[in-house]
Amino acid sequence: MSGNENLVEVKHLKEYFSINTGLFTSKPLKAVDDVSFSIRRGETLGLVGESGCGKTTVGRTLLHLYKPTDGEVWFDGKKIATKQDLVEYRKKTAMVFQDPYSSLNPRMTVADIIGEPLDVHKLYSNKKEREEKILDLMARVGLNSEHANRYAHEFSGGQRQRIGIARSLAMGPEFVVCDEPVSALDVSIQAQVINMFDELQEEMGLTYLFIAHDLLVVRHISDRIAVMYLGKMVEMADANEIYSHPLHPYTKCLMSAVPVPDPKVARANQRIVLSGDIPSPLNAPSGCPFRTRCPYATEACAESMPEFKEASSGHFVACHNLDKFD
Ligand SMILES: Nc1ncnc2c1ncn2[C@@H]1O[C@H](COP(=O)(O)OP(=O)(O)O)[C@@H](O)[C@H]1O
Ligand code: SF4
Ligand SMILES: [Mg+2]
Repeated sequence: MSGNENLVEVKHLKEYFSINTGLFTSKPLKAVDDVSFSIRRGETLGLVGESGCGKTTVGRTLLHLYKPTDGEVWFDGKKIATKQDLVEYRKKTAMVFQDPYSSLNPRMTVADIIGEPLDVHKLYSNKKEREEKILDLMARVGLNSEHANRYAHEFSGGQRQRIGIARSLAMGPEFVVCDEPVSALDVSIQAQVINMFDELQEEMGLTYLFIAHDLLVVRHISDRIAVMYLGKMVEMADANEIYSHPLHPYTKCLMSAVPVPDPKVARANQRIVLSGDIPSPLNAPSGCPFRTRCPYATEACAESMPEFKEASSGHFVACHNLDKFD
């Protein structure tokens, strides 16, 4: 293990999709627009924001499942630049998908789903070793070994997500993007699965980017939390700090929907109620993307995008008017 504190660094990442607006015309949809952050070795960075704000695209582009339109991704102190870097990077990173119903082939057995990455990369020398590896992964995610030869469609959502997680972990990744891994599951089993992510992190020394649209889900598991709005990162801080001192008006809106036991914190969080819909990223407002819904918007907010800067130690926020309401 090297001495880099940051395992993952993202610098000015952009992902623009070209959208046809007519027969011969197209327009860039700025799904991720100049986002920078880092993730420390062994930590969980929670990434939250409303549906469509660009969370999945950040995760996929960061893993180079989409080629970035612009910007850099660094892993373990090294920029991902060449094809060879990418091959190495792919072995050390993985993604857990949101929907365990569509991400697993229902006609494959559990053993073959989990074993497929091992087969592709020839990570065993004989059948017995393959089987041992598969059974070890199954045990880690709490699946009974008797289930190995059954088919994915025979399982419940929670069990399918466990199968998906075991498959993602098969290559022994260091970094995992968990894309709303419990959103499609019954509320009654969400906590179990989140606890499992926690345990796996401890046992396997994993680093997570944990995506959710719900702040309650990431609270328990995150060391730090980042908030996105319309393709931009608007705030990032330690999880406790975000909950007790949210600075960005959008974060405060999100917080006001989360029940908190401390009345002081509850008061601080309940000053703003979010109104209106999130604009389309094809027609994003000029300047600050939140200005069409922000009660503190001024002329400056329409003119330029506020810089994402450190307001207090380790607490980053992008807003022109912080001094006006705090
Ligand atoms: N492959 C794609 N092609 C075109 N547009 C896309 C694609 N993937 C996502 N988008 C658009 O990019 C924006 C961000 O999407 P996404 O990253 O999925 O958001 P989230 O995960 O936060 O819900 C949305 O407007 C979505 O419609
Ligand atoms: S920059 Fe302006 S519009 Fe954007 S969040 Fe701050 S006050 Fe609101
Ligand atoms: Mg998503």
